[in-house]
Amino acid sequence: MNKRSIEALADQPLEGMRALVRVDFNVPIKDGTVADRTRIRAALPTIRWLRDRGTRVVLLSHLGRPKGKPDPRFSLRPVAAALELELGMPITFIDDPTSDEAVRTTRRMKRGEVALAENTRFFPGEEQNDPALAARFAALGDLYVNDAFASAHRGHASTEAVAHLLKPAVAGRLMARELTYLGGALREPARPFLTVLGGAKISGKIDVIENLLPLTDRILIGGAMACTFFAAMGLEVGKSLVEPDRIGVARQLLERAGGKLILPEGAVIAQQLASDTPLRSVPRDAIPAGWAMYDIDERTRDDFAAHIAGAKTIVWNGPMGVFETPPFDAGTLAVARALGSATAAGAVTIVGGGDSAAALAAAGLVDTVTHVSTGGGAALKFLEGKTLPGVAALDDL
Ligand code: 3PG
Repeated sequence: MNKRSIEALADQPLEGMRALVRVDFNVPIKDGTVADRTRIRAALPTIRWLRDRGTRVVLLSHLGRPKGKPDPRFSLRPVAAALELELGMPITFIDDPTSDEAVRTTRRMKRGEVALAENTRFFPGEEQNDPALAARFAALGDLYVNDAFASAHRGHASTEAVAHLLKPAVAGRLMARELTYLGGALREPARPFLTVLGGAKISGKIDVIENLLPLTDRILIGGAMACTFFAAMGLEVGKSLVEPDRIGVARQLLERAGGKLILPEGAVIAQQLASDTPLRSVPRDAIPAGWAMYDIDERTRDDFAAHIAGAKTIVWNGPMGVFETPPFDAGTLAVARALGSATAAGAVTIVGGGDSAAALAAAGLVDTVTHVSTGGGAALKFLEGKTLPGVAALDDL
């Protein structure tokens, strides 16, 4: 990682300083409470590190997409309650982080205390990366820490502009971990380096494939996106999900891949998407009209597992089938288990956020892989080789 992290500040006198920390607490809220605390827990190492050094911790986050004005449905108050439970201490809630009162509140805080400010997207200018709003945020701290990897692809006032106004501006421990694993895989992977891509649409993954083709040794493709490749190969795909306007790109990628793209040999198909529907396993060139592919077949699962077992670095993004509707979760679970076995055998395994992370969590397999990214869109942008504005704005090493 070529950015300064908070660990680099370990020998500086941090005691009493106000650390303004951008976290990603964009978590699901159900009936007024946090339904999944994964992202809150992921920020705890940074919060604890700062508290242990006697700083006063002021947290900023967005939640949902409230469009620049207050909306009670997107208040961070339920998150403050969840954070209190996680930290076992009271949290100060700041209703208006742009006010003078907010600044006074942060100055009154005692060492080791933690405050959480209301949703940054309640304030006009956040999504426009407005320097005036960023200056209001900057007034809440004496140093800036960005631990919100999942928001780093957004160039917003609380992720980008503020990092130019408040120095030092460093990466938090979660951010550093994400950049170390994802960046390490792309920069200096132990080989063979394998990528497993899935999900419904090829359109969201074309740039990832383009970026990874020269870097990776093999790319395994599952999920409905495989069907657009099947169509590009001239195969009949029945009523499987295909993006007709991407068939040309898929054909070009196949031509350029030089055998690096590995597609499913066969599919689990059904006439409708339902758990109790009759299903069949067929070779990929035998999908009949009226049937759709909803998962990779057993032969493909074995084939993909063998590729995974032989790799030293594996990056996985996107489910192999409609994993929310069993039994079409079998392919995704097989890949998840294969990643766990590869990890146990010494491979570095990285799961790039979003649906694949959700599938891993549902199967209770999170702890079997090396790193599960907290970023969905951000992890994809990173794998596309794009600059993440929230990272670029931090201090260089
Ligand atoms: C996410 O959940 O991917 C991040 O929190 C970013 O949210 P956004 O897509 O609303 O910017």
